[in-house]
Amino acid sequence: MAEPKKLFIKTYGCQMNVYDSERMAEAMGGAGYTEVASADEADMILLNTCHIREKAAEKVYSELGRFRDLKEAKPDLKIGVAGCVAQAEGAEIMRRQPLVDLVVGPQSYHRLPEMEAKLRQGGTALDTDFPEEDKFEKLARRPKARRAPAAFLTVQEGCDKFCAFCVVPYTRGAESSRPAQRVIDEAKDLVERGVREITLLGQNVNAYHGAGPKGEDWTLAQLIWALNDVDGLERIRFTTSHPNDMGDDLIEAHGTCAKLMPYLHLPVQSGSDRILKRMNRSHTAESYIRLIERIRAARPDLLLSGDFIVGFPEETEADFQATLDLIEEVRYGQAYSFKYSTRPGTPAAERAQVDGAQATERLQRLQALLGRQQREIQESMVGREVDVLFERAGRQPGQMVGKSQYLHAVHAAAPDARPGDMARVRVTGSATNSLAGTLI
Ligand code: SAH
Ligand code: SF4
Ligand code: F3S
Repeated sequence: MAEPKKLFIKTYGCQMNVYDSERMAEAMGGAGYTEVASADEADMILLNTCHIREKAAEKVYSELGRFRDLKEAKPDLKIGVAGCVAQAEGAEIMRRQPLVDLVVGPQSYHRLPEMEAKLRQGGTALDTDFPEEDKFEKLARRPKARRAPAAFLTVQEGCDKFCAFCVVPYTRGAESSRPAQRVIDEAKDLVERGVREITLLGQNVNAYHGAGPKGEDWTLAQLIWALNDVDGLERIRFTTSHPNDMGDDLIEAHGTCAKLMPYLHLPVQSGSDRILKRMNRSHTAESYIRLIERIRAARPDLLLSGDFIVGFPEETEADFQATLDLIEEVRYGQAYSFKYSTRPGTPAAERAQVDGAQATERLQRLQALLGRQQREIQESMVGREVDVLFERAGRQPGQMVGKSQYLHAVHAAAPDARPGDMARVRVTGSATNSLAGTLI
């Protein structure tokens, strides 16, 4: 048998890229590749890229430039670009960086083995189609290898919302959902391989509308209830959600579905109605706050997370203040915040831009507030009991690290525990990004 070839994948961007990278590694496994941890030893390098902000997209080119020496030393080395930059820029990538042999968009990953075969005959390969066939069904079945206790599972892709700042509807295409049974089968397969916690993924995951067993459309809540019945699966999460797609059944499930964790990532982007309208978000600050109230009524201890953009075109100090006010009212346990980045081809790119230094200054104020809330909420966990799913050994001998139901990292002395074990832990201390606890 031929020596296995070596594949190095570097992943940027969101969790959907993390999931996709796993599936690409598996597909390439079928083509004789094993995954390696460094570019130096690879026969093929794949960058799975993100186009969401300018910095993310530009990073790809600086990374590619670093492979020049590697390729000179090993002329057979193949370099590929996958992900959202591949979709957005296509053949332009090869023009700008001739080291690149292959460009593949997110909907064509099942075609990677064929593309690789084509490369080996000389030449380059490009595929940024949105094919009719379902890539998930065409991707190789997963090998039955053991898995870490927490896994991602993509159930929905693409977006029809067209927020004025965002490239996702262009890079990932129209919204589509996988059939429920396929998701359930994949979940069972993951559980057989040691997975205890599954995070359902989608750019708009709560807009899920996959076919149910009788062909009728299922909601995300229906899918979650079906997964709740999978033996051995202990925890279910989902991300990322849009406020307008929080259906009543999904809100209710947060109060009644035992395996659904009390954590919700629900981006609002801004607290100013004027800006929300200009962003094409189709919700207001008020409707968002009312929604949070309903979700918290269903699940009072829910930890809320969000995304914010500052310096969106035409944002005034008063608009920005409205965002701070909303944050004060809602209280976030976790948040991601970004300075607005102009993305070519999106509607907001054409508008009057906010001065960069001013946007930076607002971002700092926003992050100071979010950081304070995050710290306070984390510190309020001290003295409480939490459930921890251990994921790996910690730095100290006998220590294990895992996640609480609220997604806080927790470490505890647990010499007899193994990854995948659940434990009841009393929180004894709070550090910058983690909690310390003792087993009960
Ligand atoms: N589908 C998700 C998130 C998609 S991108 C949602 O609708 O919430 C993740 C986050 O990146 C967004 O929530 C937004 O806060 C940020 N983002 C998207 N486009 C951006 C841009 N042009 N500049 C700065 N941040 C952006
Ligand atoms: Fe982008 Fe808006 Fe779609 Fe989220 S909902 S992916 S921010 S267009
Ligand atoms: Fe980035 Fe594409 Fe995800 S642009 S955030 S990798 S959907």
